Amino acid sequence: MKVLITGATGLVGNELVTLLLKNGLHINYLTISEDKLQNEAHYKGFLWNPDKGIIDERSIEDVDAIIHLAGASIAKRWTQSYKQEILESRVLSTNVLYSLLKNHPNKVSHFISASAIGIYPDSLDKVYPEDSTDVDNSFLGKVVEKWEEAVDQISSLNIKVSKVRTGLVLSGRGGALREMARPVRLGLGAAFGSGKQLQSWIHVQDLVNIYSFIVQRGLEGTYNAVAPYPVSNDVLIGGIAKVLGKPYFLPKIPRFVMSAMLGEMHMLLFSSQNVSAKKILGAGYQFKFLSLEKALKDNLC
Ligand SMILES: NC(=O)c1ccc[n+]([C@@H]2O[C@H](COP(=O)([O-])OP(=O)(O)OC[C@H]3O[C@@H](n4cnc5c(N)ncnc54)[C@H](OP(=O)(O)O)[C@@H]3O)[C@@H](O)[C@H]2O)c1
Repeated sequence: MKVLITGATGLVGNELVTLLLKNGLHINYLTISEDKLQNEAHYKGFLWNPDKGIIDERSIEDVDAIIHLAGASIAKRWTQSYKQEILESRVLSTNVLYSLLKNHPNKVSHFISASAIGIYPDSLDKVYPEDSTDVDNSFLGKVVEKWEEAVDQISSLNIKVSKVRTGLVLSGRGGALREMARPVRLGLGAAFGSGKQLQSWIHVQDLVNIYSFIVQRGLEGTYNAVAPYPVSNDVLIGGIAKVLGKPYFLPKIPRFVMSAMLGEMHMLLFSSQNVSAKKILGAGYQFKFLSLEKALKDNLC
């Protein structure tokens, strides 16, 4: 099987490439950075520029499935122009892939896109399955809604479409966990706000296993990619401190402090999503990391 991956050089993409190559798949990938191009027997890079609608058409030759992970990081200050980039890097890149699939002969039968649990409204008690139609009334909620709409148009080409609504990815190599662990390592760990907000996390290994599970079984539709047991922010930061052998006694950090420091992006630390993993479990996926402590130890120790 040959798979085309976008965002293959990012946090999730790197792990996914390693896993799929180990499983014997052949990979093409699209990158916006010329210096990330490689040309190996089963791992070939091609350039694209979604802003300008440019894509190397050779990238879909003999490809059976596309895994679309590309998007500008949400972990940078949300200025007006950067917010535009967060949205456009996802929607325009999807549109470029749609146009290529529509206008260029190919044998792609499955399109799998990253998505995010940020689409679900902020709630302390509601549990969100995939068929929930509520969309969070925030910048991120709207980004995910537009991103998924762009992805859905690909089903009009008679291609199976899957969306992987991803929770907080725990990886020792970067992303949110490394940032959260930084103050804790200095003995300065503290929860945010009430600390009660729920964090639906997933170990990066489980996330890439889920992508592999979906692509190899040809599963269609939307899947939440979160471990079955979300935890509160208090438990998460306390868990990081425990695993690192650091104290955890400081008062919680009020919202206004983080709002002053991070601007609108502070909502990432305060919003609460209790997301259901039942659908992917029902499809037969078995999580490697069900316990937060085990996931933290694996990534931090
Ligand atoms: N990590 C999380 O906690 C999390 C949670 C929910 C959802 N997700 C979603 O999962 C996907 C993968 O996440 P990740 O953590 O691996 O992201 P990442 O490390 O930031 O990597 C994303 C990749 O997208 C490409 N990219 C960056 N800016 C771009 C732009 N302006 N236009 C087109 N491509 C661009 C880059 O690859 P090249 O330089 O090779 O082009 C980059 O390596 C993302 O879409 C993200 O929104 C992640």
